[in-house]
Amino acid sequence: MSSKPRQIVVTSALPYANGPIHIGHMLEYVQTDIWARFQKLRGHECVYVCADDAHGTPIMLRAQGEGITPEALIERMHKEHSKDFADFGVAFDNYYSTHSDENRYFSEYIYTQLREAGHIRTRVISQAYDPKAEMFLPDRFIKGECPNCGTGDQYGDNCESCGATYAPTDLKNPISVVSGETPIEKDSEQYFFKLENFEDMLKKWFADGHVQTEIANKMNEWLDEGLQDWDISRNAPYWGFEIPDAPGKYFYVWLDAPIGYMASFKNWCESSGHDFDTYWNRDSETELYHFIGKDIARFHTMFWPAMLHGSGFRKPSAVYCHGFLTVDGQKMSKSRGTFIMARTYLDHLNPEYLRYYFAAKLGPGIDDIDLNLEDFTARVNSDLVGKLVNIASRCAGFINKRFDGKLADELSSDDLSRHTVSAAETIAEYYENREFGKAMRDIMALADKANQFIDEKQPWVAIKDENRHSEVQDTCSIGLNCFRQLVILLKPVLPRLVAEAEKFLNAGNQSWDDLDKDLLGHSINRFQPLMTRVEPVSIKRIIEASKQDLVSERKIQQAVADQSNNSTIEEIAEEIVYDDFAKLDLRVAKIVGAKKVEKSDKLLQLTLDIGSETRNVFAGIAAAYKPEDIEGRLTVMVANLAPRKMRFGISEGMVLCAGSDDNELYLLNPESGAEPGMRIS
Ligand code: 2FM
Ligand code: ZN
Repeated sequence: MSSKPRQIVVTSALPYANGPIHIGHMLEYVQTDIWARFQKLRGHECVYVCADDAHGTPIMLRAQGEGITPEALIERMHKEHSKDFADFGVAFDNYYSTHSDENRYFSEYIYTQLREAGHIRTRVISQAYDPKAEMFLPDRFIKGECPNCGTGDQYGDNCESCGATYAPTDLKNPISVVSGETPIEKDSEQYFFKLENFEDMLKKWFADGHVQTEIANKMNEWLDEGLQDWDISRNAPYWGFEIPDAPGKYFYVWLDAPIGYMASFKNWCESSGHDFDTYWNRDSETELYHFIGKDIARFHTMFWPAMLHGSGFRKPSAVYCHGFLTVDGQKMSKSRGTFIMARTYLDHLNPEYLRYYFAAKLGPGIDDIDLNLEDFTARVNSDLVGKLVNIASRCAGFINKRFDGKLADELSSDDLSRHTVSAAETIAEYYENREFGKAMRDIMALADKANQFIDEKQPWVAIKDENRHSEVQDTCSIGLNCFRQLVILLKPVLPRLVAEAEKFLNAGNQSWDDLDKDLLGHSINRFQPLMTRVEPVSIKRIIEASKQDLVSERKIQQAVADQSNNSTIEEIAEEIVYDDFAKLDLRVAKIVGAKKVEKSDKLLQLTLDIGSETRNVFAGIAAAYKPEDIEGRLTVMVANLAPRKMRFGISEGMVLCAGSDDNELYLLNPESGAEPGMRIS
């Protein structure tokens, strides 16, 4: 360990303030938090800052949809996010917002410096514009048919069906997600950052090892293709900071988001009395690390270092990318209940289980990390409960009951203790290099050794022999000292369990330097179970609750969609598995009777023949069809929908229509030849 404490600033990506934190986010915060806690444990100054990413069109539209101001939305999100992080043990030194005075100041300052140094130019470009909502549309707010394969309902940047990437102007039959209107092309002047001015600097920076090899390779490919100007402005209406001297133009959210790292740090400096310049000046000797997901590497390893360099600040010491989280080998899925919100997890399980599991899976690379729920249960139960906590629970009872809570004055052997101390340096290197999986493996091997030692000594046998009591005290004191060491080694990962263990050991706040300081002749406190097993039923409950979260979220989306009139947001259907589909009993039905429902403008009462029986169905199609026009025709119904009691009687199924507007509905109609009752598959 170096004698001079390092001064380290560390960040995680700033989560958007338009939605809740989920366990996919949490992978990154846990990774960063473990690393930051490790640095602190080693005696370094390490400041972990983060913030909500509070600007941009989606936040503006969500606030509109909820009928509140963007300020109110971001304030609420900030509270929710802060609580989720705190409950997961993510210990930021400052958690701020990009919608802050400090961020406005630095955004304006950096922009002005770049402009004065000749790194900004303006150009008139043509972009999609929604004439009804009177706003320019980001790519994600335009949908249409893929120009390559023709699949409908695709976003303006890429096709989810064939994978083609394109410009929103290439979409066929495009519509605005905001209003449902067809976008038009409109010219406007925009502000661009001349990234090409930084080509040589970036090449050297990548070569100097500030990013992982895979990322450097990808960025070098982009460099070889030639660096394009980056559009850093957006037209009003936009939720963000207005560009100085450019009324009606706003900084694009990705301009002020990384500056939010500085702003949060500045805010921390002000409350803690530190000097900002020491950390951010071009010649700073402090270290700066950004932990991010691989999807946002370009912003952090190209634009951000170039912005910093061009405006006279230091660049990051390194940017560390991680992969995505999958659950049971697949992308997190709302319909499968594996898109798990942080809060939903917290409602059912101890956050330290997940911190440990992530640690056990994390390495320094950018491969995806899989949360296998069965493996999660088995691993936590075996490692944390079966190995780690077991050492303490096996030894504590004897010390508490037979030796008045007192550890032995001296130990017969320090083999175990020395072995752990000598393993600790490698473990420290693993932590430092983000090889958390290897660190956990080595720590659990030490726990195995301690358990083997206790197995061999069999204190439960020795205690029966009056003459061997001091041997029991010796064994259990060695065991508990080993437990104490393991707890120090796991402190970055399991802060809460360790705090409880420190209370039990009555040993105060343990640091890395205490590893070789055995507790002798020392009184411990009564042992309380430090962790219980993961119960599979809790996992089931999380999955069920996550499916419910989807329903609530749909309601919010619906509110946003209703507000923006005709929006297509509600049409984004969740993926379902085949079994879900197979549950539907879809049948050809003949409309043998149809009549208006008194006192209802919307409903027609239909009598449907499905071969074996007839059904009474109330259908909301009165605005689109006259009863006499549909009598006698075939259509399609859901035949196994549970009967619903309505004001006018019981409805025994549902007919299927295309369209979502009451006035414009199209009953589905099988080809001639189909017979009532035929199953549709
Ligand atoms: O991708 C995201 O979720 C962004 N909100 C990350 C921003 S990180 C930093 F640049 F602010
Ligand atoms: Zn396509």
